[in-house]
Amino acid sequence: MFTDRYDLAAEWIKGSDFTLAFTGAGISVESGIPPFRGADGLWAKVDPTVLELSYFYSHPLESWRVIKQLFYEFMGKAKPNDAHYRLADMENKQWLHAIVTQNIDNLHQMAGNTRVYEFHGHTRDLRCVDCGRIVSTGEFEFDPMPPTCEFCTGLLKPDFIFFGEQIPPKAYESSFDSANRAQAVLVIGTTGEVMPASMVPANAKENGAKIIEINPEPSLFTDRITDLFLQGPATTVMNRLYAELTESNK
Ligand code: APR
Repeated sequence: MFTDRYDLAAEWIKGSDFTLAFTGAGISVESGIPPFRGADGLWAKVDPTVLELSYFYSHPLESWRVIKQLFYEFMGKAKPNDAHYRLADMENKQWLHAIVTQNIDNLHQMAGNTRVYEFHGHTRDLRCVDCGRIVSTGEFEFDPMPPTCEFCTGLLKPDFIFFGEQIPPKAYESSFDSANRAQAVLVIGTTGEVMPASMVPANAKENGAKIIEINPEPSLFTDRITDLFLQGPATTVMNRLYAELTESNK
């Protein structure tokens, strides 16, 4: 059953001892970061092969050229939008207890959320594939390309996961722990196409959580696990939901 009943969503969130947000690329679209899928998605313009480990190791320069343009050029430019900020406000009011994000853009932390599990890693660091040393992306000069380790000259790899790569163990464990505790889940801006990430809201549903989905269009979750579909862009819907939460708090 899904109707856009904001009062019901607010009631479920208020009645939940542990509320989780599960976010995807859609929440950052209004920050200027394109999604992966859909008409103007990245995969419609760029061959996803660049994010396969075998290609990265066999064509480091070609792969890094695309990766830099896709994921590092926007860094420092993209800012959190209202949807990110409303999730931070919800955490401050104890209406939100954790975020599991598929995004690597660091916008949830920039908005102020403190319990963020990055299921696909992040863009804050680079890691040497040979000696394992970590370099902060912040002060890194991407010249010459491909980036190499100053200590052992090994190839540096972004600290986010490539297709087929293992999910960071700590993020994996914390994400599914949160899913098992959740009594309400906000699923925001994701197609639900990627595994095992999409198992996080599915597990929460299995454990009896109420699923509130926010997306301008239906996803793979909508007919399968969504209890309440608040249709629309994340900023508009999150502003309205937060207003409902504060309204009903009076
Ligand atoms: N507000 C909310 N949702 C939006 C908005 C918006 N303004 N604009 C688009 N969306 C929705 C789309 O309808 C779609 O459901 O965001 C979703 C974007 O889908 P994807 O690009 O597939 O993003 P996501 O589901 O996060 O992809 C998962 O795939 O390529 C991998 O590792 C990558 O983490 C990524 C994973």
